[in-house]
Amino acid sequence: MNKENLSIVILAAGKGSRMKSAKAKVLHNICGKPMLYHIIKASLEVSNDISVVVAHQKEAVIGEMESFFNDAVTFVVQDAENFPGTGGAMKNIAPKNEKVLVLNGDMPLITAEALQGFLDVDADIIMSIFDLEDPDGYGRVKIQNDEVKYIVEQKDASEDELLITHVNAGIYAFSKDVIKKYIPLLNNDNAQEEYYLTDVISMARADGLKIVPLLVDEEHFKGVNSKKDLSDSEVIMQDRIKTSWMNAGVIMQLPSTIYIEDDVTFEGECIVENGCRLTGNTLISHSHIKAGSIIEESIVKNSDVGPLAHLRPASYLEDTHIGNFVEIKKSSLKGVKAGHLSYIGDAQVDEGTNIGAGTITCNYDGIKKYKTIIGKNVFIGSDSQLVAPVTIEDDVMIAAGTTVTSGKVTKGSLAISRTKLSSIKDFYYKFFEKN
Ligand code: UD1
Ligand code: CA
Repeated sequence: MNKENLSIVILAAGKGSRMKSAKAKVLHNICGKPMLYHIIKASLEVSNDISVVVAHQKEAVIGEMESFFNDAVTFVVQDAENFPGTGGAMKNIAPKNEKVLVLNGDMPLITAEALQGFLDVDADIIMSIFDLEDPDGYGRVKIQNDEVKYIVEQKDASEDELLITHVNAGIYAFSKDVIKKYIPLLNNDNAQEEYYLTDVISMARADGLKIVPLLVDEEHFKGVNSKKDLSDSEVIMQDRIKTSWMNAGVIMQLPSTIYIEDDVTFEGECIVENGCRLTGNTLISHSHIKAGSIIEESIVKNSDVGPLAHLRPASYLEDTHIGNFVEIKKSSLKGVKAGHLSYIGDAQVDEGTNIGAGTITCNYDGIKKYKTIIGKNVFIGSDSQLVAPVTIEDDVMIAAGTTVTSGKVTKGSLAISRTKLSSIKDFYYKFFEKN
């Protein structure tokens, strides 16, 4: 089936009360992106006509999604006051194509490949089912003689029905006619007083329509209702991301302790040790990231970082060594060594420069941030403060313990600011009255 023949409707208007959150459920992040983002991304691979139904916190949901997808999807507002529920959410939609795939907005693990099963079969209704040892929270699917009879929600189910382990995964393919005919016939005569999309199944069956069950896996169709579900789904997506990078040649130690977001990319043979966190639009190329390091939205090329280093957004490292307890922010370092305990912010540091332990760029005066420019082959002694704005030209030495306040240190000089050391004989013994 090609993209032009399929419409997709994503239901994202619910409150998501089981999340116990002030934020709309579909905006909760998994691997750095909102759940709804992942679903729309997979949907765009199989369809050009995507409607997202919104109501609860609709401005926030629309705003965030437009920041990712511009106008690639259409938003439809549900009258959730008068027509609450997944069936109510379908009232105002106007799909362009004959075949309409309906997805819940809380299944972030869905992929284009996993949707393929719905596109290959021709039927009035295809619905997704999985078998779970613990079906808690899902609608139960009554199957008799290999045919789907009805779906009953957990809150409406009898004791016998609760024991059913076939559950409704929450994706359906309908013909446009089925939607047109049955959505207006739904009622809210149930425990939640909601209009259930799932009731279309029993009505259609009563009319003799063919309902094809499609057996799917929880790996791709897991619904997120609670924060526990959110974290379980993130583990699954993390595993996918890390497996794919390991298959591409990245070495990871104890991958279960590593967190890597969706937009991170690797080039060449990289090593990521245990306990690292790599986020945002980060690129790691031919580099070694040592244990416990955090890299946010940065580029690291031919370098080694950590253990326990922190690269904050907009850092650029090339041919550079960063050691433990070094924090870098919005800085570019090429051919540099910063081995221990430093803060380098809003700086540009050039080749052959060594940054001693405890060096701090004082980039902020309480109102504004200023730049530090450090040239080639500079030696910065330990415990130095560079008060920005400041330029350190090539071949400069900064003596240990110096505070550079001059704005500029010219090529080839030594900068030193120290009070003279005085040493008072036998002071210790006098002070503590010992002899
Ligand atoms: C739904 C199914 C259940 C299935 C499960 C799979 C119904 C009645 N039940 O239950 O059979 O096992 O999904 O995950 O459909 N939504 C709206 N408008 C609303 C209410 C919900 O757009 O008024 C959206 C939500 O934002 C959510 C999706 O529909 O993305 C599903 O809603 P949710 O409340 O999570 O349904 P479940 O109880 O999980
Ligand atoms: Ca759900």
